[in-house]
Amino acid sequence: MVALGMVGAGRWGGNWLKTLAGLADVELRWCCDVSPASLDKVRRQFPHVRVTTRLEDLLEDDALAGVVVASVAPTHYDVGRRVLQAGKHVLIEKPMTLRTADAIELTELAQRQNRVLMVGHLLEYHPIVRRIGEMIDQGELGDVFFLYSQRLNLGTIRSDENAWWSLAPHDVSVACRLMGGAPISVQCRGQSIIDPRIADVVFATLEFPGGRLAQFHVSWIDPHKSRKLTVVGSKKSAIFDDTGDRKFVLCDKGFERTAGPGVVTLRQGEEITLPWSGLEPLALEAQHFVECIRYGRRPVSDGLAGAMVVSVLEYGQRSLDRGGEVIAIPPTRWPLRKSA
Ligand SMILES: NC(=O)c1ccc[n+]([C@@H]2O[C@H](COP(=O)([O-])OP(=O)(O)OC[C@H]3O[C@@H](n4cnc5c(N)ncnc54)[C@H](O)[C@@H]3O)[C@@H](O)[C@H]2O)c1
Repeated sequence: MVALGMVGAGRWGGNWLKTLAGLADVELRWCCDVSPASLDKVRRQFPHVRVTTRLEDLLEDDALAGVVVASVAPTHYDVGRRVLQAGKHVLIEKPMTLRTADAIELTELAQRQNRVLMVGHLLEYHPIVRRIGEMIDQGELGDVFFLYSQRLNLGTIRSDENAWWSLAPHDVSVACRLMGGAPISVQCRGQSIIDPRIADVVFATLEFPGGRLAQFHVSWIDPHKSRKLTVVGSKKSAIFDDTGDRKFVLCDKGFERTAGPGVVTLRQGEEITLPWSGLEPLALEAQHFVECIRYGRRPVSDGLAGAMVVSVLEYGQRSLDRGGEVIAIPPTRWPLRKSA
C-alpha cells in the first residue's frame, strides 16, 4: 500500500479524490484544503480520510509517502517545495508553477531529496495521445507537418489565471511530446472580455525546429464545447476528438508528388475510426505516480517536462502582453522521458 494525501479539494481535486480512493494499492490518508466547506464535503464522501486545513499535518505524518497537489496554481510552488522538503513524493497539477525558475528549483530539490516529482499533464497519459505518439515514432504518420487543437467551452471562468495558463498547459505538453521537444518560438494573441486583466480567449502558434507549427485556440467563453487535436503528417493524419463519438480517427488523406516534377496529386484515402481502450487518463496518471514511487522510476511528465511547459507559458504570456509579438524561445535541453 502507498499512503497518499491530497492538497486542494475543489472541482478537480474532487476527481483526484475519487480516483485515488478507487486504486487498490493506495491508502487515501489525508485531505488538506484551506476551505472548511470543501473539507466538509470530503468528510461526508470519504469518512475514512483524515481532513485538515493545515499542510503540516500531512508533512508530519511519517506513514504518508506522497502528496497530490490540486490547489490553485499560485500555491503550487510553495506547497510542492514544502512537501519535498518534508521528504515526500509529490505530484503537482498543471501548471506546475507560475515561473520556470521555480519549476527548475523544485526539480533540483526533488533530485536532492531523491523523491518523485511528477506534473499533472493529464493528456500525456491519454491512451489516444500515447497511440498517436507511437504512430509518429513508428513512422505511420510519416513526417509531422503541423498540428492544431481547440480547447473551448462556456464555463469555469477563473480570476486567478487566464485562459492561456488554465487551458493551454495540456496543448503545450501534448505538442512538445508529439514534436519531440520544446518549440523555438511562441506567438499569442488574446482578448480580455469579462475582466480587462484576464484573457478569456487566446490564439497561439508555436514553431518547432524544422518550421513545424502547432496552433491552439483556447477559451472559456465559447458556444462550442470542443477538445480536439489534429496531427497532419506526410502519410496520414490522426484526429483525437475528446468530446465527439468518433474519438480517434486515422485519415489516409494528403498529397503525392509522384506524377512528375511540380505536379501534386491529392490522395483521398479512407478515414477509419480506431478502437481504443477507453481507460480513464486520470486513473492511468495516478497509477503511474504510484508505480514511480514504488519502483523509484522517473515519471513521463517529470519536473523537467513541467518546467518546459511553464517556460513556454511564460514566453507566451510575454507575447500576449506585447500584443502578439513573436517571442523566440532560447534553446534549452529538456530531455523528455519516453513513454512508460
Ligand atoms: N489536469 C487537468 O485536466 C486539470 C483540470 C482542471 C484543473 N486542473 C488544475 O487543478 C488545480 C485546481 O483546479 P480546480 O478547478 O479544482 O480549482 P478550484 O478553485 O475548484 O479548487 C481549488 C481548491 O484549492 C483550495 N486551496 C487553495 N489554496 C490552498 C492551499 N494553500 N492549501 C490547500 N488548499 C488550497 C481551495 O480552497 C479549493 O478548494 C489547478 O491547478 C488547475 O489548473 C487540472
